Amino acid sequence: MSGIDESNDLFESDMNKGLDKSWRLCVAPMMDWTDRHCRYFHRLLTRHTRLYTEMVTTGALIHGDRPRHLDFNAEEHPVALQLGGSEAADLAQCAKLAQDWGYDEVNLNCGCPSERVQRGAFGACLMNEASLVADGVKAMRDVVDIPVTVKNRIGIDRVESYEFVRDFVGTVAEAGCEVFIVHARNAWLQGLSPKENREIPPLRYELVYQLKREFPDLTIVINGGIQTEEDIALHLSHVDGVMVGRHAYHEPWAMSRWDSRFFGMADPLASREEAETQWLAYLERHVATQTGGHPNTWPQAMRHALGLWNGSAGARRWRQVWSDHKLKLEPPAKVAALATAARQETRRLLAESVSA
Ligand SMILES: Cc1cc2nc3c(=O)[nH]c(=O)nc-3n(C[C@H](O)[C@H](O)[C@H](O)COP(=O)(O)O)c2cc1C
Repeated sequence: MSGIDESNDLFESDMNKGLDKSWRLCVAPMMDWTDRHCRYFHRLLTRHTRLYTEMVTTGALIHGDRPRHLDFNAEEHPVALQLGGSEAADLAQCAKLAQDWGYDEVNLNCGCPSERVQRGAFGACLMNEASLVADGVKAMRDVVDIPVTVKNRIGIDRVESYEFVRDFVGTVAEAGCEVFIVHARNAWLQGLSPKENREIPPLRYELVYQLKREFPDLTIVINGGIQTEEDIALHLSHVDGVMVGRHAYHEPWAMSRWDSRFFGMADPLASREEAETQWLAYLERHVATQTGGHPNTWPQAMRHALGLWNGSAGARRWRQVWSDHKLKLEPPAKVAALATAARQETRRLLAESVSA
């Protein structure tokens, strides 16, 4: 209940300031993770958090299988398409596709450090090319009405100065970008894997706060290493929004309180059981609509929900059953029953050992 009271306070102070809450909470774009199944699952847990696709390159959209990259479930709104690319004309073409497909936002990736992305001359290395990014943003804004936003780092390689990110944001904002999602660490373009680049360069949240102070009219969303509700609330006292990546993915139930705490709205689910029931219905629909109703299409979707019971007794057994290769051809309802039985058995044994 205290969550609801606090969020109402937050909500009222927003109303006074006329602030837009659209980016207050976001789940980060994550390759191989935030596909449409994952986003549907997250949407069950929070109705108001903004969701992002995995990065899709302009080349893949222009030359590849568009429905595969762009289709999403109607329930996913608000949902943003993240693009990887640097050619203004290509970005504009893809932004138009995003809008036509029904996305609420198009976001440009200026933060990914992977070598593959560097070879394509986009991602984090674009932070060295602010005017190229500005051209891309302008080209996109010329053809769409949905917001065009940028996700960037605070610096690249060993450039530690605040001025670097300030100048980048300033230049891109002049082209009309009003929302910046800032991963509060540098990207080191040589010698670190993408995974290491999410862990080793130090987090410097203060630089992101400083951006908000210097550009009060921009919407500044902070990202990187944020986990607890208390952390989120603290960041929201400095910036407009918080983007959470790995923690949301691995501990999804944490999101089930976000609507009340941070949006002043009712939470959509009362329990994990309810989440599981609704998710199971989705898996069954998914299986039914795949070729011939073949059941082995559900594990690809289910992998994103394996953290649902994390932190509660029996979670490991539940996960093990859902991940058991021998069960992959069984219908999801049958696997769900086995997983629940295993989870409840663990709880029963635990209760017995406590009372003994
Ligand atoms: C598996 C994985 C894939 C990612 N893929 C993308 C991506 O496609 N685009 C992007 O901008 N960032 C990507 N990221 C970075 C996240 O969006 C986020 O900036 C980063 O994980 C830091 O936030 P966190 O500490 O809350 O996870 C990825 C992160 C992970 C863990």
